Amino acid sequence: MKIAIIGLGFVGLSLTSVLATKNYAVVGIDKDKKKCNEIRNGRVPIYEPDLEETLKIGLRKSLKISDDFSLITNCDMIFVTVGTPQKTNGEIELSMVKNAVRSIGKTIRKTKKNPIIFIKSTVIPGTTEKVVIPILEKESGKKINKDFGVISNPEFLQESNAIRDTKYPHAIILGGKNTSYMKKAREFFSKMHSGVSIIVTGYQTAEMIKYANNSFLATKISFINQLSNICQKIPNADIDDVASAIGLDPRIGKLFLNAGPGYGGSCLPKDMSALINFGGNVGADTTFLKAVKKTNDDQINNIVSLMKKKLGNISGKKITILGTAFKPNTDDIRDSKSIELIKKLLKNKMKISVYDPKALENTKKIFGDKIIYSKSLLSSLEKSYGVIIMTQWKQFESINNKSLKCMKNRLIIDSRRMLTRKELNGEYYAIGIGRE
Ligand code: UGA
Repeated sequence: MKIAIIGLGFVGLSLTSVLATKNYAVVGIDKDKKKCNEIRNGRVPIYEPDLEETLKIGLRKSLKISDDFSLITNCDMIFVTVGTPQKTNGEIELSMVKNAVRSIGKTIRKTKKNPIIFIKSTVIPGTTEKVVIPILEKESGKKINKDFGVISNPEFLQESNAIRDTKYPHAIILGGKNTSYMKKAREFFSKMHSGVSIIVTGYQTAEMIKYANNSFLATKISFINQLSNICQKIPNADIDDVASAIGLDPRIGKLFLNAGPGYGGSCLPKDMSALINFGGNVGADTTFLKAVKKTNDDQINNIVSLMKKKLGNISGKKITILGTAFKPNTDDIRDSKSIELIKKLLKNKMKISVYDPKALENTKKIFGDKIIYSKSLLSSLEKSYGVIIMTQWKQFESINNKSLKCMKNRLIIDSRRMLTRKELNGEYYAIGIGRE
């Protein structure tokens, strides 16, 4: 079985590496030559636990990495995993998907194989039928379901757990017509992930499942964040105890109830906007989804106003931000709440010192010399008027009174409640914990 993966981001590179370790003949394709060179040499251009090790095992087997699309000619399966970033109006940008399927179409024109093309990229309902299939038929001169198959196969992996999730998905969604191609796809996935539920459905439903999944996760986060804001106003109330207790109810479930500064990253915010935009375009009411988004957009203001209240005039004062990655164990800062906070504080003319164990290089690409990048947690705190914990990196748990000594003023705002059990000499505020 020969398999090609097009687009070597988190999803594509994880899938490429895992499939290669399972002894399939895999070719990972990306148009970025420099990136291909790095990956070919066993270097992963992003920080993702276990990815580099998995890639290296794949490279020792028969994995090929290339920018040459003609390598897909003899493939039995082709996975499209290119990005669908957000446009300013909330819609998704489809140009990368279109370019990828155009190239696939041109290449399969010459093949004698009957490949299955899987669309893993997140696309709004209707895209596979209205955009992808017409391009493939036009460019290849061939017919869908006769000469090749197309299946919508959304991905649910989480960054920082990409390898685990690729190996052990919670479900497999296969959207398309019930043809011999679908039968082959089902066999492939049940062999690869035995015991995992496989849902076979139509294209549009499969595409919608991805948005339903991410918007439900966003809903849980906005729900707990709004509740955490209420708890913050009740003396001694603790949002984590509330979350653990309701999480025991199997109808609710314990995951994604960790209150904080709001959800960020390259997926939840983008998918919420795309779904709201799409819902509006088809004439559906999206009041609820808009409220989830607004709650998320507003959450960061909780931190800014607390700081203004406690520090008075904040202009010119130095503040330390701990964590710029959108979550721990990644160097990804796309749509990170921390980046949004820094932008707001810079507008207020504050001096910002940041520390993040992995994401400083990416942070520099945004702020250049406008902020201070500290090499260590301790040095970032020097002469600061306050510190804000934004990302739940494990090492921030080590903060104690000794670490805070070098601060000019000990205001501690803990958006992830990492230091709640410590007796800190300073003014300590945690999101979701009510003070007396
Ligand atoms: C998300 C989904 O969880 C994946 O299932 C999906 O495949 C992926 O998007 C995608 O569409 O590609 P990811 O963006 O990696 O995955 O990040 P999450 O782990 O979902 O976290 C998103 C944001 O929510 C982060 O900022 C995180 O800090 C925040 N979050 C998460 C909370 O504030 N509280 C929680 O309880 C959970």
